[in-house]
Amino acid sequence: MDIADPNPFGALPGTAVGVTLLEAQALSMRYKVAGGGMLHAVDSVDLTIGSGECVGLVGESGCGKSTLVRLLARLADPTSGRILLDGQDIAAVSQARFAGMPQRARIQVVFQDPSESLNPAFRVFQSIADPLRRLLGLKDQTKLIERVRRAAELVGLPPELIERYPHQLSGGQRARVGIARAIAPEPSLLILDEPTSALDVSVQAVILRLLADLQARLGMSYLFVSHDLNVVRLLCSRIVVMYLGRVVEMAPAEALFTGARHPYTQALLGAIPDPAKRGEIRSRLDGSPRSPIDPDPNACRFHGRCPKGTERCATEMPRLTPAGQGHVVACHFA
Ligand SMILES: Nc1ncnc2c1ncn2[C@@H]1O[C@H](COP(=O)(O)OP(=O)(O)O)[C@@H](O)[C@H]1O
Ligand SMILES: [Mg+2]
Repeated sequence: MDIADPNPFGALPGTAVGVTLLEAQALSMRYKVAGGGMLHAVDSVDLTIGSGECVGLVGESGCGKSTLVRLLARLADPTSGRILLDGQDIAAVSQARFAGMPQRARIQVVFQDPSESLNPAFRVFQSIADPLRRLLGLKDQTKLIERVRRAAELVGLPPELIERYPHQLSGGQRARVGIARAIAPEPSLLILDEPTSALDVSVQAVILRLLADLQARLGMSYLFVSHDLNVVRLLCSRIVVMYLGRVVEMAPAEALFTGARHPYTQALLGAIPDPAKRGEIRSRLDGSPRSPIDPDPNACRFHGRCPKGTERCATEMPRLTPAGQGHVVACHFA
């Protein structure tokens, strides 16, 4: 792989940090549940991702991260809200119609488990070529071969693996194919939904390093999703914390790690495994989360589990409020 080439894809769309690439406004997703009621998977989320920016999205399992990913990538239709891509509302068209639009190629997703996201009947070549054919309408075989070869090279996939099937690859190689497939159409935004959580720890580190290199070389924006704060810490300059469908805190990475304001974020930081006691989680989160089904619109979602909770938290939902220097937090006591 030619590390010296600073821009192997040629011209990329404007990548200056500071220009907003994607903006979600009051984005919500509700699912009807059997037996009645609505499950509020994503609840009125506001989020911006700058051009070339790497944003981390964290929160425990079930808090709505993957649902938000599916909405932002327009793989599902939101119940309400807007998604502006370069100022244009891409949530205004249905998911089915969006699938045929040129903007579709600009947001790509790397899914959690490459074994599940790769078609087992496709060789590596077909997997990487598929979005090029489908999203960019690329048909010329010579050009396809060239683009697939370049994407494979970028993710460090040896050329001799191009004709293999997923089951003939290691976990790390499959992860590389998933990434190659996502970057091949040259997206402006790469969304990574727990991209390393299915991998062995040693392979995780290698893949994270690759992702950091790719971001530096290609200048794409990242939305990096993880339940693990340590993982986003390595890559992201800004971090968004979700709890039961809502954003509860957002801050520059350093500010979040040194001065988290929301009791949930503080608990998450407290739950980071102690390196001295490998694998042991020192969780300070007691109790079980509230139900996401028809949640009380006037109560803080964290109430009942929060060490700081008072009567007010049961009757007044805290709103996201600026706390200085890009830090926003939704807590009455932050
Ligand atoms: N298709 C669906 N139908 C009904 N409920 C769903 C569906 N997808 C996700 N959910 C629910 O939405 C909530 C958020 O899920 P998800 O976005 O997968 O969370 P995360 O990725 O943070 O683990 C969970 O309560 C989950 O059970
Ligand atoms: Mg998920």
